[in-house]
Amino acid sequence: MFMKAKQYAAKDFSFRKTCPEIPNTTYLTHKIHYYPAKFIPHIPRWFLKEYSRPNNTILDPFCGSGTALVEANLLGINALGVDINPLAHMLLQAKTELVEDHDKFSAQCLTAIDKARSHPSNYMPDLPNLDTWFLSQAREELSRIFGYLLENPDQLPEAVINFMLVCASSIVRKVCNADPQISKPFISRRMRALLKEDAVEQRALHLLERHTRTFLDRKNKYMRTVANLGKIWGYLPISKMVMDSDARTLRNISNQSIDSIITSPPYANAQEYFRSIKMELYWLNLLKDNSLKQLNREIVGTESLPLSECRDTPVFGIEDLDSALGQVHLVDQKRGHIVLRYFQDMQASIEQCYRVLKPGGYFGLLVGDNVIRKIKIDTHTFIQEIAESVDFITEDIGYDRIVARRLTPKRNASAGLIEIEWMLIFRKPGL
Ligand SMILES: C[S@@+](CC[C@H](N)C(=O)[O-])C[C@H]1O[C@@H](n2cnc3c(N)ncnc32)[C@H](O)[C@@H]1O
Repeated sequence: MFMKAKQYAAKDFSFRKTCPEIPNTTYLTHKIHYYPAKFIPHIPRWFLKEYSRPNNTILDPFCGSGTALVEANLLGINALGVDINPLAHMLLQAKTELVEDHDKFSAQCLTAIDKARSHPSNYMPDLPNLDTWFLSQAREELSRIFGYLLENPDQLPEAVINFMLVCASSIVRKVCNADPQISKPFISRRMRALLKEDAVEQRALHLLERHTRTFLDRKNKYMRTVANLGKIWGYLPISKMVMDSDARTLRNISNQSIDSIITSPPYANAQEYFRSIKMELYWLNLLKDNSLKQLNREIVGTESLPLSECRDTPVFGIEDLDSALGQVHLVDQKRGHIVLRYFQDMQASIEQCYRVLKPGGYFGLLVGDNVIRKIKIDTHTFIQEIAESVDFITEDIGYDRIVARRLTPKRNASAGLIEIEWMLIFRKPGL
């Protein structure tokens, strides 16, 4: 049963101003690898400083590249992450794992690059139209790199292989014919011109060495920072991915085990996470058989709905939402059901967040409103109503202007541009 959301005077959170200690959005290991629609680190840091304490355990159920988990560890907070993207696990390990001997670790990483140089170039990913996406030198060098790392798991420690695969993945789009300025792989007019001039970068091994050195330096700084703070805290916080889980089930997370939750779920109908990162997933051999289709079905906001299930007028149970869904459905039946499904998935996820949170725990959600088929969808208000219907108490609401989110995809014709994001803060009753 949904009640109208309680009205709050929304605050201007301007997150970038709240954490002057953050020098830039890519400091320390945040620089490692790009990711669609990343948090700026200021957002989780602000939330964690306000609503969490050292030695707590926090959760990000849509953790993506692990921004919130990195920030948690830097504040002495333990962190759990859930994400259906298999790359998320690798990124988290590369960013937060503390290795015992950094010099030895670095030397092993650089040796791996040397070994890759002379490795045969037999490995080919299952990526369709490989020759369209990569020129021959890029293809050959990527083949040596990924072939060596994936086919020789016993030659190097697991942490080194993982770190090097992340470094290798980070250069895939740099040596690709797709336009790096557009998140979805697409050979733009600009890239066609560069291809004609023979000016597309192909030196994968050269870039790999450069990226690896930069990322090693960042990892070293991150580890030194955590180790120094650890001497004050008396412990070292940890980050862990919850395996075989999903934001809609939070499987493998016990009831009332989490102190606070901070997350940024996908937007309704505005993201194509896997398409924008599919080249990397294929090279990493993380997409087997039909798993890209499977991932696209599991994503909150999925567009994989059979048309036959989209005939009836979509009804969620919130009056204003149903009115908007009905209007979208009139012009685009499938789109109406995609939006319905988004809110159903978000409801499942919010119920699970309630289950795993300790009484009195806080839950921060960053969401954006949408315009779909010219119809405004007040996503943040509906999410507030859903959260209140599962018994969360709204604690605070604010907004921030989106400045630049690396690889935030251009929205398609059916989804409007999100210019501000809403931060909703809820509290579970009790204590
Ligand atoms: C906005 S991104 C989060 C980015 C993250 N805050 C960061 O800083 O990198 C949303 C994430 O939700 C994940 N996701 C989508 N559906 C999911 C589901 N059913 N369960 C868990 N994660 C999911 C996507 O893979 C994506 O990584």
